[in-house]
Amino acid sequence: MNSITLPGLIDLHTHLRVPGGEHKEDFATGTAAALAGGVTMLLAMPNTTPPLTTPEVMRSTRKTAAADIHCDVGFFAGASPEHAALLPDLAPYAVALKIYLNDTFGPLRVEDVPTLRACFQSWPREKMIAMHAEKQSVAVGIGLAATYGRPVHFCHISRRQEIELIADAKSRGLPVTCEVTPHHLFLTQEDAARLGPLGDMRPLLGSQDDVDALWSHIDDTVDCIATDHAPHTLTEKYSDSPPPGVPGLQTSLPLMLTAVAQNHLTLERLVELMHHNPRRIFDLPEQEDTRVEVDLTPTTIRNDQSLTKVGWTPFDGMEVAGQVSRVVLRGEVVFEDGRVLASAVAGRLLP
Ligand code: NCD
Ligand code: ZN
Ligand code: ZN
Repeated sequence: MNSITLPGLIDLHTHLRVPGGEHKEDFATGTAAALAGGVTMLLAMPNTTPPLTTPEVMRSTRKTAAADIHCDVGFFAGASPEHAALLPDLAPYAVALKIYLNDTFGPLRVEDVPTLRACFQSWPREKMIAMHAEKQSVAVGIGLAATYGRPVHFCHISRRQEIELIADAKSRGLPVTCEVTPHHLFLTQEDAARLGPLGDMRPLLGSQDDVDALWSHIDDTVDCIATDHAPHTLTEKYSDSPPPGVPGLQTSLPLMLTAVAQNHLTLERLVELMHHNPRRIFDLPEQEDTRVEVDLTPTTIRNDQSLTKVGWTPFDGMEVAGQVSRVVLRGEVVFEDGRVLASAVAGRLLP
């Protein structure tokens, strides 16, 4: 067996759906899918029901997580006009702040300048601010990073115009970073037409030109690969008002290994994008004695291998270059032969 060993991967962008969306995913199923994808640490998104915008919701969500997680989990606090004054009280429970500038799943949105000012003035400077920003909203984020002299991280950058703007901002020395998802690197509008609701997410899949632009910046402007694991049930996806979002935790590494096999990037760069850079940018702790063993035998992605609650992936049937065979977390084998071994709950809460 041709195998390699990688450090535990870090996913900066996971929707675990607790509280309020437990029929889509919960801490146990989401973190099991994480281990199956080689992810040993992840940051959970705040667009839950209710959203993670108050200390009360944060505390009870962390309590639920503490008893349920198979990998290490940190949380984003959510920015909202209603609860902007609570940001300093939220910060102790969160790794970073998330601001949604554009429409997507859930009601969290910031569309007014006073709330943006409050975020940049009152969120602790040592903690990151991340943004869902599309098209010209990226320019808003860059402007805020410059104005307040503090780092901004852009989630799921997907278009040529966005990655080129971020490249320009970086060339001026502005403190901005970004992540790109595997689905925006591997799928286009043509796949969206084929997949129907299973190819619908925010940002929408781009053109071939957008995809080419992302790949051409993979060695410089792109800082991280993040999954934007956003599970919704098949019933919801095939309903009259399908929510946007696709699962991604289990397919991210197999797809990126395929890109390595196709010479789109080196294995060293993959490890930078999926471990070193996420850890550095979000100042995340080291996981001692933690590794991911990967079997590089070509294999096919199948819906029935999904450990997520929703049981589907937009990549069903796709040939990939390898898959995770074993995960060791702090010296303990926690995943092997397609299943989570930890009867114990091996994950820790961050911070
Ligand atoms: C995400 C979700 O379902 O929570 N959906 C999506 O299409 N990406 C929200 C988000 O990340 O914007
Ligand atoms: Zn988003
Ligand atoms: Zn997301």
